[in-house]
Amino acid sequence: MNRTDAFWRLFVFFRPYWKRAVTCVMLIGASEGLRLYFIWLTQHLLRPLIESGIRTGEGDWLVSLVQKALHWLVADVSPRFTLLAAVCLVGMGVAILRAALSFAHTFLANNIAQKVVLDLRRRLYSHLQLMQPSFFEQERTGQLLARVINDVATLQSLVTVGIEDLISTPVLIIGSLTMMIVISPLLTLIALLLLPFVGLLMWRLGKRLRKASYETQVALGNLTALLRESFSAIKLVQAFSAEEQELNQFDQRNRQIYQHALRAIRLRTMLSPSVELVGTLGVILGVFIGGVFVIQGWLHPESLLSFMVYFYTLASNTRKLTQIQAIREQVTGASERVFQVLDIQPEITDAPDAIDLPTVKGEIVFENVHFRYPESDEVLRGVSLKIRPGEKVAIVGPSGVGKTTIAMLLMRFHDPTEGRILLDGHDLRKIRLRSLRKHIGLVLQDTFVIDGTVRENITLGNPDATEDEIVEAAKLAKVHEFIERLPNGYETWVGEGGAFLSVGQRQRIALARALLRKPAILILDEVTSHLDAESEAAIQQAIEQAMGGRTVFIIAHRLSTVKKADRILVLQDGQIVEEGCHDELVAADTYYRRLYELQR
Ligand SMILES: Nc1ncnc2c1ncn2[C@@H]1O[C@H](COP(=O)(O)OP(=O)(O)O)[C@@H](O)[C@H]1O
Ligand SMILES: [Mg+2]
Repeated sequence: MNRTDAFWRLFVFFRPYWKRAVTCVMLIGASEGLRLYFIWLTQHLLRPLIESGIRTGEGDWLVSLVQKALHWLVADVSPRFTLLAAVCLVGMGVAILRAALSFAHTFLANNIAQKVVLDLRRRLYSHLQLMQPSFFEQERTGQLLARVINDVATLQSLVTVGIEDLISTPVLIIGSLTMMIVISPLLTLIALLLLPFVGLLMWRLGKRLRKASYETQVALGNLTALLRESFSAIKLVQAFSAEEQELNQFDQRNRQIYQHALRAIRLRTMLSPSVELVGTLGVILGVFIGGVFVIQGWLHPESLLSFMVYFYTLASNTRKLTQIQAIREQVTGASERVFQVLDIQPEITDAPDAIDLPTVKGEIVFENVHFRYPESDEVLRGVSLKIRPGEKVAIVGPSGVGKTTIAMLLMRFHDPTEGRILLDGHDLRKIRLRSLRKHIGLVLQDTFVIDGTVRENITLGNPDATEDEIVEAAKLAKVHEFIERLPNGYETWVGEGGAFLSVGQRQRIALARALLRKPAILILDEVTSHLDAESEAAIQQAIEQAMGGRTVFIIAHRLSTVKKADRILVLQDGQIVEEGCHDELVAADTYYRRLYELQR
């Protein structure tokens, strides 16, 4: 995608509002047309004051019309006087009308810009939601956030200004040029020879401005990333008294932003006075040449006045073209980054022929599954297994061996690099994601709690659950009584990341959440790993109660959790090396037995 594309692609977001946009364009056109007409009127204003032998009905037809009406009303007033009054009346009318139009189109333009930005923000957010979880681990999350927030904010402010200028500027340029030609083609030609100097000068500065503002954005992204990293590890920073170290890093990046921003500002401020100067000198030269025309009798003095105002309008709007160019560059820069994010294809999507599975039995088959993360060695090297509906299977093995990876593949957060996984005989890639995930209840080792009430946490993913269902799930997870004892019961705030709850309580709430979906398959990944013996026993009980007729995957480090499983799989070097129930495995000379004896 090249830069220009990014700019034009933005227009897709305007499509739903094209009617409003067309109305806005027409209103701006009308409003600027009136401005040009107003300038035209000034010469008529001067005419009755300068010339003595003025005749009725000369010049502008609207003015003549009003003048005739005035004559009809008050017959014995001099034509000079009625002409003056008529010009003023028309001028007043034009001014009032223009104010109304101006209000309307400014409001409309802002409205469109806000709507577009609203949609864009939503698109970005919902697009990022499609990304596989590992995406947020790879890409620097801070950069991403900075993109979404800063660039969209930039677009918002720029687009609002841009829409109006984009339309009014060309209208004014073409309009005033036409009027200048009407007044005096020769003088217009001379005036035009003055303009190109300005344009050329500005073009070059604009390019450098773009680069500087892009660098500022990047630097800002770096800073945001640093902030996130450093505050998420604030305990570590404080415990090791590394504040100074962190501050130094911060300073360095903060200064970078300052320098880039300063450069952008310097360029921008240079741009404006230099154009102003060139413009003013041009006008003065124009006055001189125009004066010569009047003295020579080639031009009415009052027409020279209108001509000069038209020329000024032309010059200042040509100058505005450079501003528009600068805005366009910035819009392009910001939308380029936004589209970069929007163009990232989610790794996992629904196949066009994916099906819905309204109910599942819970049979799971891994067929020679290989898997590697991007830029990693192969984690799974040919895992084959078959799990009957309702079977309780435990996966054990050293940490880092790929146990969680198996669970993630089952959730289809990734696809196998080789082989396939089947649910009830259907390849996971042929099942719609929503449908697949609906049938799986997932509880993870790491806290999985959103900032909200206990109820919001349990009903995440099931917003329509009834009170009875919620209580039932909580009871099944053995957390109902605990919740009842909380100050506000189910409405108690859990704090950010569940800070007000113990790990064991969080785990049971997470379990209740998973159970509320009434999943056919339950995945428990190291649910008890961080718990003390007492909480472990409690959640162990909850788990046993929750298993019901479900297919259950228990991933565990601690073997006390897996003893009761129907089948235990030992994962090593990316393959299943041992398989059997606890008693069988302990009876033989197995890795499992050594592990079991170590932990006893
Ligand atoms: N998102 C990821 N990107 C790259 N490598 C990963 C990712 N997640 C896990 N890994 C690597 O894959 C291997 C298996 O990880 P994991 O399945 O979490 O192991 P376990 O759950 O058995 O401790 C590890 O070596 C880990 O470093
Ligand atoms: Mg793990």
